[in-house]
Amino acid sequence: MYSALVLAIAAGCASALTLQKRAVDFYAPTAGGGSELDNAGDGYGEPLNIIISGLSSPAVLTDDGFMNFAHALGYSEECLDLHAGGAQSANLGDGNGWVDQLIEIREDYGSTAVGTCLESLVGGNHFRVWRQNGSLADSGALFLAVSKEEDVFESHTIVPDGYDIGRNLLAQAAVGTTSYGGVTYSTTARNVTGLIAPGSDGVNHGIAQDGIVTVLTVEIVS
Ligand SMILES: *[C@@H]1O[C@H](CO)[C@@H](O)[C@H](O)[C@H]1NC(C)=O
Ligand SMILES: *[C@@H]1O[C@H](CO)[C@@H](O)[C@H](O)[C@H]1NC(C)=O
Repeated sequence: MYSALVLAIAAGCASALTLQKRAVDFYAPTAGGGSELDNAGDGYGEPLNIIISGLSSPAVLTDDGFMNFAHALGYSEECLDLHAGGAQSANLGDGNGWVDQLIEIREDYGSTAVGTCLESLVGGNHFRVWRQNGSLADSGALFLAVSKEEDVFESHTIVPDGYDIGRNLLAQAAVGTTSYGGVTYSTTARNVTGLIAPGSDGVNHGIAQDGIVTVLTVEIVS
């Protein structure tokens, strides 16, 4: 009887530690009253143009796991001292309403320690991240607002066509095999339309985007 109890406790611990694989890629934010545009705080928004699928390996969808994946693509947490942009919020239609970004991540130019400071100076690719985990649409997917920026002397404005360019650069860096910190990833991409209308309606800086959202499915292979 004692050993049965120990076994039951051991089984309970094991299941608590095992991350469950999710059941869907993502839910369309608009289906739950949300938006595929974030809120930049100036009456406009930036497109959530990359989705990390809920069907990715569960560890990739955690805060630490996603940061490791970002490092594998050459991105790091931003250089705090040179941070020029304010926090933005997004409503992913999951019942959580408008919530601030989890984190803002920049190209690190090969140095996870100081590279993002360089990015802040010279411009480059960057993105903000939100997690779709409210009880109305709990996919676990991560939604990214990606854009390519001018340097800090241009007050971090987006380059012309910077949303589509930023999305494509990040997707190109991700697809195929990447690795960091002893973790190897295999990533596939597919494009989805219908989540956001093409054009510049409501889009920050009046920069048109093509209405394509790229869905990345990231598998940890070793
Ligand atoms: C949902 O995600 C947010 C942001 O990462 C986190 O603070 C919160 O604890 C998560 N909620 C649940 C129920 O896991
Ligand atoms: C998605 O669309 C962009 C823009 O047309 C294109 O550059 C990219 O190759 C497409 N990706 C996939 C996986 O089809």
